[in-house]
Amino acid sequence: MDDKHYGDGTEATRVLDALDPVRAGRLAALDQFHVGGVRASRRLAGRAKIGHGQRVLDVGSGLGGPARLLVDETGADVTGIDFTQHFCWIAQALSVQTGNADCTRFCAADALVLPFADDVFDAVWTEHMAMNIAARDRLYRELRRVARSGGILALYDVVEGSQSVGLLYPVPWASNEVNSHLVDADSLRRVILDAGWTERIFVDETAAALDWLSNVPQSSGFEGPTLRDVMGPEFPTMIANLRDNFEAGRLGAVQAIFENSSASI
Ligand SMILES: C[S@@+](CC[C@H](N)C(=O)[O-])C[C@H]1O[C@@H](n2cnc3c(N)ncnc32)[C@H](O)[C@@H]1O
Repeated sequence: MDDKHYGDGTEATRVLDALDPVRAGRLAALDQFHVGGVRASRRLAGRAKIGHGQRVLDVGSGLGGPARLLVDETGADVTGIDFTQHFCWIAQALSVQTGNADCTRFCAADALVLPFADDVFDAVWTEHMAMNIAARDRLYRELRRVARSGGILALYDVVEGSQSVGLLYPVPWASNEVNSHLVDADSLRRVILDAGWTERIFVDETAAALDWLSNVPQSSGFEGPTLRDVMGPEFPTMIANLRDNFEAGRLGAVQAIFENSSASI
């Protein structure tokens, strides 16, 4: 991954200083870093059927919005890991401000080398992170290693569309093609099955993504920092390119649930 794409941390202090605890309940413009915002995370949570007290690992947890949503709406206990250290700082600060610090924690780590023992999580959750990973076979094996037998993988990712040529950059996960590692939906399904997961749900989310991108709210009513403050002045261009790429069929989106149904890798 281009370790400058998500910033070098200089924005983190300003974003942290600008957070207002009174408004911390309305953070989606800052902490849900994927197409479709909080509703998309909620749809994935509904499909995943995560239960109270379950141990969830959010891989590529970003600013922690999905983790807090899971805590608030399912009663799960969520550990987030993210390659970008300053995202983990912001995520942790937001959890403190929103009263979620007991049930969420965030640390910097690489999804390909998870700092956890085998078989520890009831669910592994990942949204819009895999597009940064070239070694998908390794990724889905590593996610399975840390999931208990019977545990699930819940994912929401952007995939290559039927018109894959001429993708416009920058997009929110990559400044250029060197750091973007898209696969199409069939290849995604195949690489996950080959890693030993069993498919339970596989849903095309392209229409919902297009709908959201056509109506991205200009203002959330939230006066605190947004993803624009975290990602910098190119962020509106990234969103405009994303919309154009979806409209032209260059991109699609899927949500899926897989189960770790066999005993060992
Ligand atoms: C588009 S953001 C999505 C954040 C979050 N999942 C969400 O939906 O709000 C992608 C995240 O993946 C993280 N990421 C990229 N490559 C990673 C890797 N190899 N290991 C862990 N995190 C990674 C980035 O740092 C970034 O925070």
